[in-house]
Amino acid sequence: MKILIVGNGGREHALLWKLQRDAPDARFWITRGNGGTAGLATPLPLDAGEIPALVGWAENEGIDLVVVGPEGPLASGIVDYFLGQGIAAFGPSQAAAEIESSKAWAKSLMVRHGIPTAAHASFDALAPALAHLDQVGAPVVVKASGLAAGKGAVVCATHAEARDALKEMLGLGALGEAGRQVVIEEFMEGEELSIFALSDGEHVVPMLPAQDHKRVGEGEAGPNTGGMGAYAPVALATPELLDSVEREILQPTVAAMAEEDRPFRGLLYAGLMLTAEGPKVVEFNCRFGDPETQAIVPLLASSLLDPLWVVAQGGSIAGLRFAWRAGAAVTTVLASGGYPGEYTTGAPVHIAPEVRSADDLLVFHAGTEERDGKLLTAGGRVLAVTALAPTIAGAAERSRWGAERITFERSHFRKDIGWREAQRRA
Ligand code: AMP
Ligand code: GLY
Repeated sequence: MKILIVGNGGREHALLWKLQRDAPDARFWITRGNGGTAGLATPLPLDAGEIPALVGWAENEGIDLVVVGPEGPLASGIVDYFLGQGIAAFGPSQAAAEIESSKAWAKSLMVRHGIPTAAHASFDALAPALAHLDQVGAPVVVKASGLAAGKGAVVCATHAEARDALKEMLGLGALGEAGRQVVIEEFMEGEELSIFALSDGEHVVPMLPAQDHKRVGEGEAGPNTGGMGAYAPVALATPELLDSVEREILQPTVAAMAEEDRPFRGLLYAGLMLTAEGPKVVEFNCRFGDPETQAIVPLLASSLLDPLWVVAQGGSIAGLRFAWRAGAAVTTVLASGGYPGEYTTGAPVHIAPEVRSADDLLVFHAGTEERDGKLLTAGGRVLAVTALAPTIAGAAERSRWGAERITFERSHFRKDIGWREAQRRA
């Protein structure tokens, strides 16, 4: 089997790692690749966004399956292009990817179908947005409707902050096209939960619940990032809670998409807020999350390739059940100096031999590259260290231990990944 992975971050490295274990005889290619994917897949000199070139190359090469990681190409319709040429591709169509690429559309879908989420209103002009803000008051969340690489949501504690955010997006066009339409949302209080669910357009099969750590600093301080760490499973997500999420959020969303002629075939990622009134949707993503994938996938005992292959071919996953390893996974992300602001790259990376050889640690690469036999930093989030252990506390300690033994100039990472879970268990 010939498999192309589109994307080249930590999520794609983790997917590649798992798919390669599921099919040791398969051959893999990856767009660009990074310093960690080198031994697993052949890098292609094409970016994830170069869709016609990728499709042409895949046709020539006789690629059997394409697995798409990032939201950008999905929103541009990459899966439609591949399917149009008869190549099986895992990920939603462009129309279905709108559940992530247009927050305004996603919110309207939820309202039409009674899916629990924060109250909201959408605007494409500043004056009515400011008038609405005067009515609802702070705290509120101001969100760019389009894809903004994690920078599109501003949680505003005060009226003044919300005015500024609206002026930035709608007045000054600070986020460009992504912020031409803005959603003003009720502020929800609670703990967040990431639920990945595989869907064939009709059935949904949830994966292990995980929790992300979006803030750059320990104890949830500082600005939001793409994610500084994650862990799974989450004790807060009891079987009863997960049942209700499946019944009231996942199933109805997939049914709603099918009813509106945009069947969702791919990985539906529900970002939830566990409010006093029950779980509500913060956002949907149309793809695997990063860095949650790096924590969830190593715990998956059953095949990932088989169900992805079925969904990519338009088949049914009725009756599918994932099997999970006992224990827990904690993932610590190492980032470049300055990240999530402007950061430096090109620093040599040293991974201690005892980290490379540890059976309970996996080092997934994101922003790294190999040049002249040297491993260098090449992005904001550089590496993710996933530790597997019987308990969250044990995995957290080992993940930190590993992160401390990976060094590059101006690196930083959080030493408290999984702190909420550790507190709960204590
Ligand atoms: P989003 O881009 O929609 O995922 O939002 C990014 C982050 O902002 C979320 O992970 C939450 O931490 C926070 N956030 C977004 N919407 C809300 C909301 N309605 N209430 C409280 N926090 C929110
Ligand atoms: N972990 C957040 C995301 O993948 O969007």
